[in-house]
Amino acid sequence: AGRAKSKDMLMDLSNAMKALYMDEYRVSDDVHARREAVRSGIEEIVTASAAFPEGTRVAVFGSSANGFGSPSSDLDLCLQIPQSATDFTKEHGVSAMTQLAEKFTEAGMVDVDTVRLTARIPIVKLNFPYDKDGKSILVECDLSLQNPLACLNTALLNTYSKISPDTCILASIIKRWAKMRDINNPAMHTLSSYGYVLMLLFYLTSSEPNDGFVVDPGNVRGKNPPLLVNLQRVDPSWAQNPVGPYREILAKPHNQYCIHQHPTEPIYMVNTYFYRSGLEILEQYHVNRSKGGPCLGVVLASFFRYFAYEFDYKKLVVSLDTKHGEFKEKETKAEEDGWSLYKPGLAIEDPFEHFYDVAHVVKTSNFHHIQQEFALAYSKIASATSGDRGFVTGRDLI
Ligand code: CTP
Ligand code: MG
Repeated sequence: AGRAKSKDMLMDLSNAMKALYMDEYRVSDDVHARREAVRSGIEEIVTASAAFPEGTRVAVFGSSANGFGSPSSDLDLCLQIPQSATDFTKEHGVSAMTQLAEKFTEAGMVDVDTVRLTARIPIVKLNFPYDKDGKSILVECDLSLQNPLACLNTALLNTYSKISPDTCILASIIKRWAKMRDINNPAMHTLSSYGYVLMLLFYLTSSEPNDGFVVDPGNVRGKNPPLLVNLQRVDPSWAQNPVGPYREILAKPHNQYCIHQHPTEPIYMVNTYFYRSGLEILEQYHVNRSKGGPCLGVVLASFFRYFAYEFDYKKLVVSLDTKHGEFKEKETKAEEDGWSLYKPGLAIEDPFEHFYDVAHVVKTSNFHHIQQEFALAYSKIASATSGDRGFVTGRDLI
């Protein structure tokens, strides 16, 4: 009887998560229109400034374009310098952005901030006054200089958000939780939103939470197809010839992409393959998988439990570059990419830039704190849904 009650409460939690998502995270057409107006407004100023090569564009990346944002998300933008402008170096870019910042202020932008122009990827921050129906609101923008891989990983995340509404809901709730718990601030050596989303994608593509998580905490691994297909491992010919529900490939096809940060910086190649045609098949797969699988509340609780107690941080890397049910070891990363074998805490391999650890900013002491927060979130759901404390809502959780 206890188990049946706990199941009901987990269903209640799932419904509360969906309701919270509908209330706070769905981005309306109005918000999309506002973002496009701000993007093109900034692009106009860039084009008029003449400090940048002809054909320079402004592109949106991050949560405004990856499907895991909310109406209040900031707007991450980047300046795309045309490849033909080979003599336009990073130094030129920084000086052009300094001039651009002045133009922004002249054009009425608020709090234009050039402090981060000295960063690895130079950034100007500003608030764009957007007027509609007699009301003015300030849209917070970060404008960076060239960021080709961020645009690509945004496209990857966006494709996940399109094929799996459940992933959108989970990502939104987890990002909200991380912000509320104050563990989502890379400047303070905790983890970026991007890092949390990658942890979720890793979890969903590699594990299968079982329904009886309160009673039976063991995860069953490798028996069922994943909750989420790994887009970087779907056979590219699957759309033309779908065999079974999901076919995983052993070796990824190579879509070599040449990263040309700036002409004076080294050029390197990354494999940017991910499955992006025939998404209807994947949408249908996830509708079916979601019907037959555990409810959202169970998946959320299992995610927290997994990263609190089950994931072997000492030995493993959070990596999407593995077959379902397999894991990449720190030892392998040490051999392939020279990563430290002895980094005690969280390591997250970027889905494209394999040599880049998305969690490199996280201090060891903060890692322990984050792990405790995972445990606390799990125990809150477990105790609330085991029947003693009654209903738990998406808001209670955080
Ligand atoms: N990014 C990256 N590498 C990182 C951090 C971020 O490439 N180590 C890029 C990703 O393209 C990511 C974007 O920068 O989508 C924005 O990062 P972040 O602010 O962490 O994520 P958002 O999705 O924008 O989250 P939020 O809603 O909290 O702004
Ligand atoms: Mg952002």
